[in-house]
Amino acid sequence: MATTRITINDNGSLRVEGDFELVDAQGHSIDLGGRARIGLCRCGGSAKKPYCDGSHKTNGFQSVVTADAAKLAPPAPPAPPPAPGA
Ligand code: FES
Repeated sequence: MATTRITINDNGSLRVEGDFELVDAQGHSIDLGGRARIGLCRCGGSAKKPYCDGSHKTNGFQSVVTADAAKLAPPAPPAPPPAPGA
């Protein structure tokens, strides 16, 4: 069983809970102050990105995702090997 759970909230955030680490694009860990549960903005409207600040409730964001409708795109083909001498 996974130790991290990510819930796609209807018309709102991604709730992340359990044992997880949040890092920036460079891999630096972000101090969550001991929290074991956070909400990440999915609507793009938060003034406190990456966290949800409740703006989705007033900006018209609508997205309801069900497990049977959530489909991943096929994986991208592997990158070609680098050209010799490159
Ligand atoms: S999902 Fe809540 S502010 Fe964006």
